[in-house]
Amino acid sequence: MAKLTVNGRAHDIDVDPDTPLLWVIREQVGLTGTKYGCGVAQCGACTVHIDGDAVRSCSLPVSAADGRQITTIEGIAQGNVLHKVQAAWVAHDVPQCGYCQTGMIMAVVALLKEKPKPTDADIDQAITNICRCGTFQQVREAIHMAASA
Ligand code: FES
Ligand code: FES
Repeated sequence: MAKLTVNGRAHDIDVDPDTPLLWVIREQVGLTGTKYGCGVAQCGACTVHIDGDAVRSCSLPVSAADGRQITTIEGIAQGNVLHKVQAAWVAHDVPQCGYCQTGMIMAVVALLKEKPKPTDADIDQAITNICRCGTFQQVREAIHMAASA
């Protein structure tokens, strides 16, 4: 049994402790904004926050998240008010197919917490998420917009 707090709500989860956190978020908690891409911690589609840090949930056993604060894409807006990163994404029309974008946004939110005014080099180093639609330039512009908000 794992005790998870996801977006401020407590959940008692009865699964094998080795179950990847991603599947618990999607199947037990029922939040499907976090996506499965590669399953081997390479693409970033599954990025969520644990205690504020970005992690790739496909490769983290749920036991490692026991008792910790998890935030998913569904938890970053304040009611109807988008997070500034989400607002910048809308303003720059970033998503194409959208599949990678929730993980991308979660990685960016964590980056801006660490570095409120990231340089292009900071972005290249921190945002290693893969986008098959090639939205990288729009992502960069939206990050700079969010950083100046
Ligand atoms: S699905 Fe987790 S990094 Fe690709
Ligand atoms: S928007 Fe399609 S994979 Fe990134």
